[in-house]
Amino acid sequence: MSESVLSRQFALRPLLREDTPALLRLWNRACLFDPCSLDLLEQKIWGDPDADQQTSLAYGQGRLEGFVMALRRPNGVNYLKALMVDPEQRRSGLGTALLESARRALPQGPLRVCESAPDYVVPGVDVRYTPAICFLEKHGFKRVGECYNLLCDLNQNFLEEPRTGVRRALPSDFDTVMSFLEKHWKAWQYEVGKMFENDPISLHLGFEGDRLMGFSGYDGNTRGQGCFGPMGTDPEARGTGLGGVLLKRCLADLKAQGHPEAVIPWVGPYAFYSKQCGARIERVFWRYELV
Ligand SMILES: CC(C)(COP(=O)(O)OP(=O)(O)OC[C@H]1O[C@@H](n2cnc3c(N)ncnc32)[C@H](O)[C@@H]1OP(=O)(O)O)[C@@H](O)C(=O)NCCC(=O)NCCS
Repeated sequence: MSESVLSRQFALRPLLREDTPALLRLWNRACLFDPCSLDLLEQKIWGDPDADQQTSLAYGQGRLEGFVMALRRPNGVNYLKALMVDPEQRRSGLGTALLESARRALPQGPLRVCESAPDYVVPGVDVRYTPAICFLEKHGFKRVGECYNLLCDLNQNFLEEPRTGVRRALPSDFDTVMSFLEKHWKAWQYEVGKMFENDPISLHLGFEGDRLMGFSGYDGNTRGQGCFGPMGTDPEARGTGLGGVLLKRCLADLKAQGHPEAVIPWVGPYAFYSKQCGARIERVFWRYELV
């Protein structure tokens, strides 16, 4: 049976606010490695600034059997932010119908899986979702990379290393931080901007004189889950120990919030985190794209 015929078998409809409890049940049945709470669901589904009714589709009345959330970010890339089918409904073409319907409603352009920064759930497909990997490859998605979530045990002392010029951000630092990011990491402006809404501001800064040289933050992309990052230091400040100090200020904050562990998502430089705070690789994600 062709994919378009499969798509027509299912009466998909836009996700509604009142679906929230049913979506939470579906999510926790379908996505075993990403347990979700009502608060997280609110943030990720209803709080996403680019969410689009045409591409947030559900199947089922009362009890939801399937859900897809796809969207177009201002960077011109389409993302499949979430796709899930109830385990009892799998291999009946529903996943294909959800994917195809969302794709048809999206503007032209490449489609990446998860990694929908600045507001994302996971940075790729956790390799343990083997059915999803088979599903995506069947639909022509190509693997374009790999990344990791690290886990850091917070049951350790993050000694306040005295360092001149390192302090928590103040509301008046907002413009300086945004200009710094504009120059080095524009893609992080939204996430770091969100940190200014937290109380206390969940961002630490490192200055040399008046010049901002680095930052590290938490509770930006995902609040209340013990999530560190992002962080960055100016190329001129690398190798001076600034990054380690900034990192530990944030980890001390997350520990004080009561989290036993911190998640360091979407990493790259695991050697830095392993050395600084004993973080270990916890999850491996494959990144996929359909061109
Ligand atoms: C990925 C997922 C949405 C697929 O939903 P689905 O309704 O089972 O998908 P379909 O029935 O349309 O499957 C289409 C094809 O994908 C492939 N596929 C799907 N599940 C598979 C599996 N367990 N093993 C091998 N291939 C599989 C097959 O080629 C299948 O065609 P076939 O059944 O004719 O062989 C579902 O497995 C799921 O919800 N997984 C958990 C959440 C998740 O991992 N989401 C993806 C992250 S974005």
